[in-house]
Amino acid sequence: MCGIVGYIGKREAAPILLNGLKRLEYRGYDSAGIAVVNGEMQVLKRKGSVSNLEEFMSGTVMIGATAGIAHTRWATHGSPSDRNAHPHMNVSGDIALIHNGIVENYTSLKKDLIGQGYAFTSETDSEVLVHLIDRIWKADPSLDLEGAVRQALRHVEGAYGLCIVSSREPDKIVVARKGSPLVIGIGEGEYFIASDAAPIVEHTNKVVYLSDGEMAVVTRNNYTVKTIENVEQEKRITELDFSLEKIEKGGYEHFMLKEIFEQPEVMRDVMRGRVRLDEGRIQLGGIEDYLDRLKQAKRIVICACGTSWHAGLIGEYLIEEFARIPVEVDYASEFRYRNPIVTSDDVVIVISQSGETADTLAALRLAKEKGAMVMGICNVVGSTIARETLCGMYTHAGPEVGVASTKAFTAQVIVLFMLAMALSKGRTISHDEIRLYLRDLADVPDKVARILEQNDAIKEIAAEFKDAKNALYLGRGFNFPVALEGALKLKEISYIHAEGYPAAEMKHGPIALIDEDMPVFFIATRDNTYTKIISNIEEVRSRKGRVIAIASEGDSEIGRLAEHVIYIPQASGPVMPLLTVIPMQLLAYHIATLRGCNVDRPRNLAKSVTVE
Ligand code: AGP
Repeated sequence: MCGIVGYIGKREAAPILLNGLKRLEYRGYDSAGIAVVNGEMQVLKRKGSVSNLEEFMSGTVMIGATAGIAHTRWATHGSPSDRNAHPHMNVSGDIALIHNGIVENYTSLKKDLIGQGYAFTSETDSEVLVHLIDRIWKADPSLDLEGAVRQALRHVEGAYGLCIVSSREPDKIVVARKGSPLVIGIGEGEYFIASDAAPIVEHTNKVVYLSDGEMAVVTRNNYTVKTIENVEQEKRITELDFSLEKIEKGGYEHFMLKEIFEQPEVMRDVMRGRVRLDEGRIQLGGIEDYLDRLKQAKRIVICACGTSWHAGLIGEYLIEEFARIPVEVDYASEFRYRNPIVTSDDVVIVISQSGETADTLAALRLAKEKGAMVMGICNVVGSTIARETLCGMYTHAGPEVGVASTKAFTAQVIVLFMLAMALSKGRTISHDEIRLYLRDLADVPDKVARILEQNDAIKEIAAEFKDAKNALYLGRGFNFPVALEGALKLKEISYIHAEGYPAAEMKHGPIALIDEDMPVFFIATRDNTYTKIISNIEEVRSRKGRVIAIASEGDSEIGRLAEHVIYIPQASGPVMPLLTVIPMQLLAYHIATLRGCNVDRPRNLAKSVTVE
């Protein structure tokens, strides 16, 4: 959700903070703000993007300050506006606070504080925190900032990643974490704080991840980490393994496009060292010790949200097809609230690009409580979900900045494919079959590269549909989740209403929507459902719907039925989603950019959803 940056050291804080905010803007762009301490506190904040704040700051004096905090907001309580922007300040203006998360009991806290004479200037839940700290500190002046924050947090219910500075103690930043990630970057005589590593990586690759329930006091010379209950913690320093180049656009107009085009390379990275083609086997380091237990699972439950949930659906098809273990796929948000039946015979797999999605994390914790073995598939190394699962696999897709997930999805599907193979080995499919499927998987990156060569042609098709009001996406079997993903991509970045359906379900309702203005994107590759899909295409044509087909190279029939055909290389059904999703991503990207939408920062969305 919101992005947090902090800096304390010897250099000018303001430019470092602003630059950090730019790297974090994918986490929220409703407003941005900055507070620096230089004798006294200076706070500037502005509705809109970081560039609005930057413009507003030019000409103002923040020179000489070497400590400060900054925030980019994704609104939860209170509309996007200057006054709801963070940092929030106490009435006397000597404490500034930024917050990521939700204060669930803010209404009662606010009522108490108002009763004690506190005046609120924003509609946010976060503002209660700064007044609460102020009240506690005033009531007991023997406390320091750290002590006041610690005491305040005892009254707070909900989730937070917090950074607080005070001109009364100008040489420190106090941070606290419960439910919203925080990372401390360790430099030479300087420290960086952020809600993820993106703003830190250009300064240092040494980081410490705070765990839930921990606080840290960061000064120019050191940092100490304690629990909120004041117990000192030993923290391990982790080395980041991604470079600055990986989080920059590298010549592409948008991160999303860059990430789409990175997929062949990312796919090779995901498989590297894991797919042993010569031996016809899979080596999955992160789960090796747990593989037997995984194979013995009575049932596998996959929990995730959004695009990761779509990958999970493909995982269900793959694991059931190959390993013959029953699989259920749950929206993490439903799983956690519907009292699911989960036992120690079950394995729960949580899938999350960010590794911080609040619903997925809560599902993980619930599954653990119920005694299930929990495995994670995450992209962000060291993320909360990665740390709280018993075992797991990283997707190694590199930082994904575009809010619309692309390369993380295909990486998740590859991981699930490899997992399905590993679960099948020695049980349900022969060594020769595994070898064949691995060959097919290994060929995918080159085939994806060939599909990407059609980018210009796909853009031309996109131009014809850029003014559509609605769109339908239809697929069957392994390609049904791709239809869902295609529809999600289109709606989240172009704001066109789109629905994904299993193609055969169309006649049970959505067919009523079809008229001459309705684009219908069919995934009609050559597999065992092909003839059925062709009948579905005929049904749409006879109602004058506009058919765009994703079809297999060499299919000479489909051109007669569809207004446009995007041909993709042939592959076996189980690997097909890795190919069919690519035109879907490009279509959504081009339709959205042709409509003038900001695809990297779609309205109302944020990259990682750390609130419920
Ligand atoms: C995808 O394009 C979305 N923006 C969104 O659905 C995302 O996949 C979802 O929020 C889950 O995120 P996660 O993978 O980081 O848990």
